[in-house]
Amino acid sequence: MKYLTIALAKGRLSELSIELFERIGLDCSKLKEKSRKLIFTDDENKIKFMLVKASDVPTYVEYGAADIGIVGKDTIMEDGRNLYELLDLKFGACRMCVCGWKDSKVPSGFIKVATKYPNITRNYFAQKNQTVEIIKLSGSVELAPLCGLSEFIVDIVESGRTLKENNLSVIEEICSISARMVVNRVSLKMEKERIMDIVEKLRQEVSK
Ligand code: PRP
Repeated sequence: MKYLTIALAKGRLSELSIELFERIGLDCSKLKEKSRKLIFTDDENKIKFMLVKASDVPTYVEYGAADIGIVGKDTIMEDGRNLYELLDLKFGACRMCVCGWKDSKVPSGFIKVATKYPNITRNYFAQKNQTVEIIKLSGSVELAPLCGLSEFIVDIVESGRTLKENNLSVIEEICSISARMVVNRVSLKMEKERIMDIVEKLRQEVSK
């Protein structure tokens, strides 16, 4: 039997993903050992786990280097790749928001917006007919209004603590985000039974 390859987003989502796979009976013990290895196998169930930078998960899955991926909806939306999103895993819940100085409003004219998510930002403001200049950053986006790089940011808000501690707040909510299971289109045809078996088990676990 061929190994099914699952790409897990490193970081915030990885621990919760591992926990979930263990609950459906996969052996993730090697994943939990502190090491620098990037591929781990569950030989009994013929599963290969890969630890991948979150923003690269859709790439591995679209090209078929991974059959399945676990990644945030934010990354899926931003990347816009050709894959099947089969399941909302419910964990990693947060919101994609336009944020700015507390009590401010998005004016009708031109604004500058800093973000790690230029595509989501462009689409959101285009649909509102708002002209924006998007400034792409790679992290700590909340700094942008604080130092005058931009008036607003588009970013993920989880607890709201980062905003609060920097005197910023949510101005508009774009959408809700959570972890999703994505599948390669060809893999779903070729390994339908095994993949749907995993989907069903995960679905039951997340609805408990
Ligand atoms: C994310 C996000 C916010 C923060 C929100 O950043 O971009 O900065 O978490 O969380 P909170 O609402 O619970 O404070 P992350 O920690 O992933 O790192 P980054 O800023 O380097 O992107």
